[in-house]
Amino acid sequence: MTFDPKIKIAPSILAADFSNFGAECRAIEAQGADWVHVDVMDGHFVPNITFGPAMCAALRPHIKGIMDVHLMIQPIDPFLEAFAKAGADHLTVHPEAGPHIHRSLQTIRALGKKAGLAINPGTDIGMVPYLLDQLDLICVMTVNPGFGGQSFLDSQLPKIRALRQLIGDRPIDLQVDGGVSVDTAARVVAAGANVLVAGAAVFKGGSADKPEEYGHNIRRIRVAALPS
Ligand code: DX5
Ligand code: ZN
Repeated sequence: MTFDPKIKIAPSILAADFSNFGAECRAIEAQGADWVHVDVMDGHFVPNITFGPAMCAALRPHIKGIMDVHLMIQPIDPFLEAFAKAGADHLTVHPEAGPHIHRSLQTIRALGKKAGLAINPGTDIGMVPYLLDQLDLICVMTVNPGFGGQSFLDSQLPKIRALRQLIGDRPIDLQVDGGVSVDTAARVVAAGANVLVAGAAVFKGGSADKPEEYGHNIRRIRVAALPS
């Protein structure tokens, strides 16, 4: 598939109804989500636990498009194959979660998946030039990972701008994750991001039975992202 640089909205199901994930995934896609962002947490790398590969495999039939799996687990390498087999399209990993980030990214590509690098708010991007050839996606964390609904960190905007420069015209998505909303979307897109993860801002006010609200929220973020 050729690279598509258009703005994409990736709702994080961390903010969905955990008792109804299949219907929630179908609802957000029907309401205009471009990707489904799946936050995997282990209670060790981050101070929260969500779910593992079995849940991802169970979700897979409910997602028609891209299943964008953000792995916040340590160690990372022993679990990459399981998440690949669970049907993820993208596997995004944190450099702190394993001993050799370059090797982890190579493994993801070898498993036939797109490889993403997630960069925490306190993490420097000095490694990125040495990883560019292994990357399909860079995820700039604009909150500390672990929880939805946190406040966006403006301190990360120069990092987004610097990464856009480094990426140049390479087919690498520049994703922003954490606190993205109608209020912050324009800033991240102006800085160079093209994929917006949003949990609270997409799911607020809606449900699988009331999905129009998801569509409304997604459209509002899209409009805010590209002010005319
Ligand atoms: C945080 C997760 C995010 C989170 C975003 O660790 O990686 O994907 O769900 O949620 P909001 O958009 O509510 O900040
Ligand atoms: Zn995430």
